[in-house]
Amino acid sequence: MKMNALVPFFVILRPAVVLAAALLPCVVSSASAQDQAAIERGKYLYTAAGCEGCHTDTKNKGEKLAGGRALVTPFGTYYGPNITPDKEHGIGNWTDAQFIRALRDGISPSGEHYFPVFPYTSFSKMTDRDMLDIKAYLFAQPAVARADTPHDIKFPFGFRFTMIGWKLLFLDKGPMQPDTAHDEQWNRGAYLVRALTHCGECHTERNILGAVRKDRELGGSPVGPEGRSVPNVTPGGRNVSQWSEEEIAELLSSGLTPDGDSVANGMDEVVANTGKLTENDRMAIAVFLKSLPPVQLPPRAPN
Ligand code: HEC
Ligand code: HEC
Repeated sequence: MKMNALVPFFVILRPAVVLAAALLPCVVSSASAQDQAAIERGKYLYTAAGCEGCHTDTKNKGEKLAGGRALVTPFGTYYGPNITPDKEHGIGNWTDAQFIRALRDGISPSGEHYFPVFPYTSFSKMTDRDMLDIKAYLFAQPAVARADTPHDIKFPFGFRFTMIGWKLLFLDKGPMQPDTAHDEQWNRGAYLVRALTHCGECHTERNILGAVRKDRELGGSPVGPEGRSVPNVTPGGRNVSQWSEEEIAELLSSGLTPDGDSVANGMDEVVANTGKLTENDRMAIAVFLKSLPPVQLPPRAPN
């Protein structure tokens, strides 16, 4: 009797168990394939954006993304913080929303305003999906327990609250909308240049408050990284006016100019990243540069 009561129970249960057992590996593997795809996409975007350069102290053999790289600016020296998934010293406890807020709004999980030496002014224009794929990649890297090096900023630029007014004036918040007046290739180039690879952070002159001058976009800057000047890369520039799109794409791939010089002074670090992008993406960047309004006047040094 007991046996009989159990049999139908098993008959009903068995197909369900078998089915669930058969489905389980599929569900698990499709979820991790998705994660893996996000990590791969994130790695590409992370390379384009050059996150590693500012967040790794390569000079002193620091560990990847553990921070400590000195960034010398006219406002003082900043140190890239630890963005490994370490829960105490890195960003291991951050939620997706907190990560998006840092890149989109330049605000930390505790509500502090970041300094724009962290180029969130460009990253702000990224899509949510691109930001979260970058986060997926970061969280797949080894956690490193290294405390952040405090910034060494000149008075009065060290006050984070002053960034509130600065952002009202200068933060052009994203995500970026495609410009329907241009084709897909141009829009991809615009997205790469303005949101991801942030070429303007070096190639655009800044005003006295350290914000890039949109009216002189990519028109060159008298004070680039480490105080050196940075060339005009609009069609008003001495070289870019002469070079073809293919030649610009080649420079972004190999670092070589048409006359066989190799770029240096920080541009070599950029090329180390743009060299890993697809040919199509480098061409899109070149097409976008050549389409810009030519900036003619030489840049002026800020007072
Ligand atoms: C030009 C250098 C530079 C680049 C490129 C850069 N960062 Fe940063 N980042 C910084 C600096 C400097 C800070 C600290 C800002 C501050 O203290 O206000 C920072 C802060 C951060 C923070 C906040 C960390 C914390 O502990 O609060 C995150 C997250 C971050 N960056 C992620 C990224 C990601 C992701 C990328 C690439 C998409 C990236 N950064 C590219 C320089 C850079
Ligand atoms: C970290 C600062 C920095 C960033 C970011 C940067 N550049 Fe440069 N770029 C420079 C400097 C400095 C030079 C001058 C190279 C030299 O002195 O050898 C340069 C040179 C160039 C040149 C050659 C121009 C000429 O007239 O010789 C091109 C083209 C160029 N950059 C394009 C780009 C593009 C496109 C991006 C974004 C993907 C970019 N750069 C991002 C600093 C930067």
